[in-house]
Amino acid sequence: MPLIQLQENQQRVNNFLSEQLSDLAINEPRLHAAMSHGLLLGGKRVRPFLVYAVGEMLGIHKDSLDHVAGSIEAIHAYSLIHDDLPAMDDDALRRGQPTCHIKFDEATAVLAGDALQTFAFELLGNARVSDTQKVEMMQCLAKASGYQGMCGGQALDLAATDTDISLEQLEKIHRLKTGALICCAVELGAIAANATSQQKAHLKTFSQNIGLAFQVHDDILDVIGDTEILGKPQGSDEAANKSTYPALLGLEAAQNKAKDLILQANISLQALPFDSALLQAFSRFIIARNQ
Ligand code: IPE
Ligand code: IPE
Ligand code: MG
Ligand code: MG
Ligand code: MG
Repeated sequence: MPLIQLQENQQRVNNFLSEQLSDLAINEPRLHAAMSHGLLLGGKRVRPFLVYAVGEMLGIHKDSLDHVAGSIEAIHAYSLIHDDLPAMDDDALRRGQPTCHIKFDEATAVLAGDALQTFAFELLGNARVSDTQKVEMMQCLAKASGYQGMCGGQALDLAATDTDISLEQLEKIHRLKTGALICCAVELGAIAANATSQQKAHLKTFSQNIGLAFQVHDDILDVIGDTEILGKPQGSDEAANKSTYPALLGLEAAQNKAKDLILQANISLQALPFDSALLQAFSRFIIARNQ
């Protein structure tokens, strides 16, 4: 990861999540270990990064953002544990480790995902923001991770496996399964900072563009990436006959699409009266990363 701020925030949220998880009573050691496995072993922490970077750009101190950043990462970790299950993508490697159901068992992996999902809302309940902000954040996170967001997108993704779909349908899937949580991370930072509706509108356009670009690049990495570096199996999408951007458009057109989205994202940032250099650098990182 070339961005030093990404590494700093990664370290910060890792420490925070590790403390929060160790505060839970370990009366079910196997489930606790599975939760730790899914939440603490690696990950770029891009959603927490966005919470911190947007919040800080708008003038909020990181201390008010730890619970918020941790909560969205807990949702993401749950989504990955379930995404890897045999009933979904059936993958055995994640973040360079055996996936949760391989290391433990399927029932434990389902429960670890479930428990991480509720843990996310418990963290948000303890966030250092006003009660009004908490309610708004909870609604935002619930909507982005559930039927109208990530879960809805995952259902469409599964339905689109082994079938031919249109580019419009694929874009919808990607916006829901991955874009929704990325948009939510940005919105949570904006809610924490009491951003104006105009600021939120520009940030929304930014996040919609980077959210889609993030999944387009994830699809690209499945084609051109290296399993060792990715920490997850390269070629998994093709083996499972998934609908992806490179599969529909070809590799080069998919790469151009991702570049164009990042260009659009950075244009929307320029409309904000803040120093958005870090967010702009982060956008470029999204399509330059190799993991
Ligand atoms: C992988 O997400 C799954 C997608 C939504 C594309 P990340 O690329 O953020 O995975 P980690 O958290 O860094 O492992
Ligand atoms: C996953 O998309 C999106 C989620 C909601 C987890 P992928 O299935 O492409 O993610 P990876 O490639 O397994 O990380
Ligand atoms: Mg998947
Ligand atoms: Mg997957
Ligand atoms: Mg993928």
